[in-house]
Amino acid sequence: MTSTTSQAQPAVAAVIGGTRGLGHQLAVRCRDAGLRTFVYGRSVHDLPPERSRGFEPRELDLCDADSVASADVSLPGPAYVFWVAGAFLKKPLAKTEDAEIDGLTDLLLTGPLKLLRRMLAAAPSSVRLVTIASSSGWKRRENESLYCALKAAQATATRGLVPELVEAHPANQVTLIQPGGLAVPDFHTGLEIDYGTMMDPAEVAGIIWDLAQSQRESFREVQILRSREPGQEGVPQVSFGPRLPEPPL
Ligand SMILES: NC(=O)c1ccc[n+]([C@@H]2O[C@H](COP(=O)([O-])OP(=O)(O)OC[C@H]3O[C@@H](n4cnc5c(N)ncnc54)[C@H](OP(=O)(O)O)[C@@H]3O)[C@@H](O)[C@H]2O)c1
Repeated sequence: MTSTTSQAQPAVAAVIGGTRGLGHQLAVRCRDAGLRTFVYGRSVHDLPPERSRGFEPRELDLCDADSVASADVSLPGPAYVFWVAGAFLKKPLAKTEDAEIDGLTDLLLTGPLKLLRRMLAAAPSSVRLVTIASSSGWKRRENESLYCALKAAQATATRGLVPELVEAHPANQVTLIQPGGLAVPDFHTGLEIDYGTMMDPAEVAGIIWDLAQSQRESFREVQILRSREPGQEGVPQVSFGPRLPEPPL
């Protein structure tokens, strides 16, 4: 059973991958709630005013070891940490280059873990980690073995962090979000997608924000999947707990 934490309201938020897409929408929620909001990404200094107003930029390239080792990880107060950064890859493994395997692994797993290691070691107060994994970690997919493996590993690493985080500070919490398809064209570059059937990232960010705000237990895993019902396509559906991996065939 998961224990219930005492509450320490976060004063700051760090959004790893907060420059675009779902991460940007989460950063907007944090900023609008009055949190001091640090946005991480490669493009933090190139954003238009409407995507950077009210945020504190922290340059980070998760695929560059020096950048991960030197990025500013200070969290001045109880903090939300959103682990969001990612990219998609749909390719048969046999046609995937070694550099693509290394790059996606750095981006989705090893880079964030090294950054989180530094962030948690330096945190002066409580941390509420909110991980954006994916339903691709348990759904049957084709030509996505690397992406799916890394999203499943991200989810497993997040669950695995719960005991040590709770031991480190009684107010620490972990929220694991497993979203389905989002209407984020940047993420699905080059693919033919009907975005009318995908979930709106701003709406999903609102759901995640409300879930994180209302969480009292130390750990919560949440599926946010898109409805496929005729007339309801793309409407987010929220359910709690993990899912068994689907059979591959
Ligand atoms: N879109 C979907 O359908 C979907 C579904 C389920 C789960 N997800 C997950 O949701 C997360 C966000 O996806 P999204 O759709 O919002 O994608 P997105 O719009 O493409 O945003 C990706 C974010 O990751 C950052 N990023 C990419 N490469 C980076 C690097 N090397 N170093 C640091 N940051 C980097 C980007 O910032 P910079 O470009 O500034 O570096 C950007 O802020 C991902 O983890 C994805 O796996 C997405």
